[in-house]
Amino acid sequence: RRVKAFAPATVANVSCGFDILGFAIEALGDQVTVSFNDEARLRVLRIEGDGGKLPLEADKNTCAVAIHAMLLHLGSRQGMDIILEKGLPLGSGMGSSAASAAAALVAANVLLGEPFTKAQLVPFAMEAERVACGAAHADNVAPAILGGFVLIRDYHPLDLVPLPVPEGLYCTLLHPHLELRTEDARSVLKQQVSLKDATVQSGNIAGLVAGLYQNDLALVSRSLKDVIAEPSRALLIPGFYALRTAVMQEGALGSGISGSGPTIFVMSPSEEQARRVGAVAEALYQELGLGLDVY
Ligand code: HSE
Repeated sequence: RRVKAFAPATVANVSCGFDILGFAIEALGDQVTVSFNDEARLRVLRIEGDGGKLPLEADKNTCAVAIHAMLLHLGSRQGMDIILEKGLPLGSGMGSSAASAAAALVAANVLLGEPFTKAQLVPFAMEAERVACGAAHADNVAPAILGGFVLIRDYHPLDLVPLPVPEGLYCTLLHPHLELRTEDARSVLKQQVSLKDATVQSGNIAGLVAGLYQNDLALVSRSLKDVIAEPSRALLIPGFYALRTAVMQEGALGSGISGSGPTIFVMSPSEEQARRVGAVAEALYQELGLGLDVY
């Protein structure tokens, strides 16, 4: 028996929620097929769509690392074969490694007769993030597994809070043609935060969560600000501020770095608006002589 699962792209941080907030994107993502083998080990048989860049070794591949963590928890030596079909670009800030781990876990869990709830799978996926980027953050894997917006209220112990998704909220993903490793994008972050910045950031994250609950897109818009990670990381993304100015003039609700970048997410109050944002971004990047994919 084979089980195939899909997990979506995710936007982590959502500006003011560094490492504690993320949401899932519809339709775009990775697929993983899992089946039992008699080898008492995990084998990654094939990876499609990664241009040969991802490791097949079970201790480095995020699908295998996540399933390994799950089997360890069960005390099981069950072998499994894994096939990964990448739909997401690597090093893009769209939660590519998280989507692979999430899809692998959901498929393996079904194959095993669902010993875990979806929320219980999140810590196993975090182990895959640790291997992928050195930090076991949950703001991609939690929404990749659970869908919607998820708040990670605490990591010790893990406290996941699914949040409502307001109606009429659309996201455009703008992916400049460059790869940024999460590990590198984390290394540029300041290790100290001033009291003033901590206060501003807290106000915005509280405002964003309130805006999601109240279906208040104006409040969501006012809260989409990041004074902690964005100032350091924006320098790694050509045209970041010019793009913000252009999409805000177009009537977007807000924009920010998706996860650790270089993808930029833009929130809009309608599908039409979200498409216009994509067109504006493409025109701007063309002027800058840079390549850009719009999702
Ligand atoms: N919260 C993580 C970071 C997300 O910003 O490094 C990585 O996609």
